[in-house]
Amino acid sequence: MDTWKFFDITHGDHMICNPTNLAKLDELIGLLDLGSEPKVLDIASGKGEFIVRVAERFGGSAGRGVEGVAVDISPFCIADLRAKASDRVPAARLEILEMDGAGYRPEAGTFDLASCMGGDWVFGGHVPTLRFLAEAARPGGCVVVGEPFWKNEPAAEYLACSGLKRDRFGSHSQNVEAGEAEGLIPWVTMVSSDDDWDRYETLQWRAAARYADSHPEDRDVPELLARVEKSRREYLNWGRDTLGWALYLFATPRR
Ligand SMILES: C[S@@+](CC[C@H](N)C(=O)[O-])C[C@H]1O[C@@H](n2cnc3c(N)ncnc32)[C@H](O)[C@@H]1O
Repeated sequence: MDTWKFFDITHGDHMICNPTNLAKLDELIGLLDLGSEPKVLDIASGKGEFIVRVAERFGGSAGRGVEGVAVDISPFCIADLRAKASDRVPAARLEILEMDGAGYRPEAGTFDLASCMGGDWVFGGHVPTLRFLAEAARPGGCVVVGEPFWKNEPAAEYLACSGLKRDRFGSHSQNVEAGEAEGLIPWVTMVSSDDDWDRYETLQWRAAARYADSHPEDRDVPELLARVEKSRREYLNWGRDTLGWALYLFATPRR
């Protein structure tokens, strides 16, 4: 089954495609220090809820004061993002790129905000993601990443079943320390609650079940349901107690 079709179906009811709730996202946006007419970069932007909210908050009328670049590899996400941007911030100068984020080469030091929430594999992990974003952001700018962390030691059965490696993620403190090691200044973290996680995970169950009901002719349905079922077991048996998620807001040094 096409990866992006699977993601599109399972995230059909999500506004943001990570386990953060909208109140936390808005709070984080309110804490950004971007100056006037900011320039923003969002890699693995998904349906664009984050960059559109930033444009709404900092761009004035119809997002006019914001310039930005949103990059995502999924044609489904890009279509959603284009529709959302033209509906909510039609005057924002957003460049929306359907491409592999690893191939995007920003001019160093030019963005007031550089972000990547839930896409660290694009750059090969948390540290190279921080490095890329820190380089793209201007001195005195902001860097935001969304990243999982181990909140408890993962059971061997969980690792075996999910295919995750123990060293795939760090702890919450290691995620912050990684930013400091890259020369970033930790400002704020927003850790997701069980409730946030439940909403993120279980909306996928519902979306998949409803899609299967309404598309009995789709030959991808058995695989869709099998993958969601496997993910449900992993989440309920281990993931819910083991895996955390946080948004990390850092500032870049002024010089
Ligand atoms: C977990 S979602 C997060 C989306 C968005 N940042 C959010 O939090 O709502 C991961 C996103 O990464 C995108 N993605 C996956 N691989 C990518 C790549 N190599 N380059 C750019 N985007 C990618 C997916 O299409 C998806 O939209």
